[in-house]
Amino acid sequence: MIVYLNGEYVPREEAKISPEDRGFMFADAIYEVARFYRGRQYRLAEHLRRMRDGLAAVRIAADPAFYPEVARRLLEENGLTDADAIVYAQVSRGVAPRAHAFPAAAVRPTVFAFARAADPEPPPEGGRAILVPDERWGRCDIKTVMLLPNVLAAQAAREAGAIDAILTRDGIAWEGTKANLFCVTGGVVRTAPNGPRILPGVTRLAALEAAARLHLPVEERPIPLEELFAADEVFLASTTMWTYPLIEVDGRKIGNGQPGRVTRLLRNELYSEFTRGF
Ligand code: PDD
Repeated sequence: MIVYLNGEYVPREEAKISPEDRGFMFADAIYEVARFYRGRQYRLAEHLRRMRDGLAAVRIAADPAFYPEVARRLLEENGLTDADAIVYAQVSRGVAPRAHAFPAAAVRPTVFAFARAADPEPPPEGGRAILVPDERWGRCDIKTVMLLPNVLAAQAAREAGAIDAILTRDGIAWEGTKANLFCVTGGVVRTAPNGPRILPGVTRLAALEAAARLHLPVEERPIPLEELFAADEVFLASTTMWTYPLIEVDGRKIGNGQPGRVTRLLRNELYSEFTRGF
């Protein structure tokens, strides 16, 4: 596997990052995961915009303009130009002796990226989710690598035999550990509005646009737990899963316990957008 580190393409084993990198010490870093079909990017401009916003929000002086070319080269170097693949990129504030405030002298941000084949599709019959208290910080809209609450919640889901955990706070089901959350009630497609409690997902937006194209009413409003349980359909949406049906949450059956029609329609719509080129 060839990876990208600070301007160079090197075998993964040769990519060395200092233990004093602030990404390692403080999770002082921003990341993105973008998807490519046969070398063609999918909504990459939106990933770049989010990365630019994230870097600006935490004041890391780096420009995500590196992404398209680095992605192209990584797909090529790793024989993924005919594949369904993801390209991960991470930018940290750089290397400096450990001190919480920013380094006094400007340091060069560390830029690391890798490409790999997309994970196999999860089972088509849908998945189960558990509920976990959302213990994340107050800026979940910034895609930082500070993912320990997500990691712990995802592990709790795995140990419960579930596909994901839904993060809840103040009686609201906000999102999954790595995906946005939607429900469908009486034909209305609903998801939380963008704001500090959720990541402004690229797939979330794609699903809302697809719903509009299909003339499905959409509503951006937080989903209280009782409305989640009463929904006809519940699904997750992310770059790695498209829309994925949840047929049971916290041991309670959603709708008729089968993947729903709207979830499937949106998934087909997004997948055709992806393979056709967007
Ligand atoms: N996760 N919410 C959270 C907390 C996420 O981490 C992600 C993405 C999403 C969906 O965003 P998008 O549709 O832009 O992928 C929502 C990536 C895939 C990850 O961490 O691997």
